[in-house]
Amino acid sequence: MRRSCIISCGSYLPEGIMTNDDIAKIVETNDAWIQQRTGIKSRHIAAKDQMTSDMATRSARVCLEKAGLTGSDIDAVFLATTTPDQTFPATATTVQDNIGMGDRGFAFDIQAVCSGFIYALATADNFIKSGQINRALVIGAERFSSLLDWSDRTTCVLFGDGAGAVIVEADDTAKGSKDDRGIFSTHLHSDGAHRKLLCTDGGSSTTRTVGYVRMNGKEVFRAAVTRMGEAITEALDANGLQPSDVQWLVPHQANKRIIDSIAEKLHFPSERVIMTIAQHGNTSAASIPLALTVAVEDGRIQRGDLVLMNSMGGGFTWGSALVRW
Ligand code: UT7
Repeated sequence: MRRSCIISCGSYLPEGIMTNDDIAKIVETNDAWIQQRTGIKSRHIAAKDQMTSDMATRSARVCLEKAGLTGSDIDAVFLATTTPDQTFPATATTVQDNIGMGDRGFAFDIQAVCSGFIYALATADNFIKSGQINRALVIGAERFSSLLDWSDRTTCVLFGDGAGAVIVEADDTAKGSKDDRGIFSTHLHSDGAHRKLLCTDGGSSTTRTVGYVRMNGKEVFRAAVTRMGEAITEALDANGLQPSDVQWLVPHQANKRIIDSIAEKLHFPSERVIMTIAQHGNTSAASIPLALTVAVEDGRIQRGDLVLMNSMGGGFTWGSALVRW
């Protein structure tokens, strides 16, 4: 049986750090409100000339180096982003060039906002399982600060920039058992009826600008708790597992209160939930691979652990990926 295994992960965060106090100098807000309502203490903000492709490439290179591979070992690049360098070509093609893949394989962007990494991982898994490719680079990279209206305190305090990547590789020795390594399942969902609750107020076919983030925070909060919770239950049920079988929950980092409420409802003790929101803020498609990398590098996620990732974002989009590391 063929499974897709995550063999390496890496990340990149821009040097610039913006604290809540820094934001309080720009809009009427304060550290106490932001921490209490979101769990965020600071976020990384890209330098003026730093593009999404730069951050994506840095994370990809870390990943390749850790795996002892080069661009010529990669068959495809799936880059989840809402903040491409340009409207076209796909930012993934810039990364393909930067890592020296030449004309090998293919590269494209995936747009599912904060669920982008789960969508990209599912895409890579299915390309691998179908036998079309053997090894993929899956990246979530965002320069979300480009989309912020720095006069809107309801959104500008929430987001940050960064990139995270994983290498996914075919393993044809899997037995089809619960002890296998690799991706056990991915589940993707969307419901466009809610697209106006979290969106930008511009785009190339409407205003011909990229626009700024606009969000109905309360509605999105409610939907995030419901949909991210459903995503967990769906993944566990599909694999005949209980929350206690899963070592690590790695949720999209949108709001500490969202994550706490899901974990409590589904009986995941907080020690088994990876939380990076305090230092990263919400980095959209980059948040899950950034969190994964932190937990792998500090030794919490170990080979053989079951890791459950779940997300929710604009569209709405939501989903999960269950992986034995
Ligand atoms: O990644 C994809 C998904 N994104 C999310 O999941 C985000 C979901 N939403 C949220 O995380 C929360 O709704 C927010 C953090 C955005 C807002 O928290 P809230 O508890 O829903 O606050 P609220 O919007 O109900 O606002 C409460 C009060 C309001 O004042 P009044 O009307 O009670 O006087 C706001 O004007 O807080 C005020 N407020 C602020 N005060 C200080 C709103 N933003 C700020 C701010 N600083 N930055």
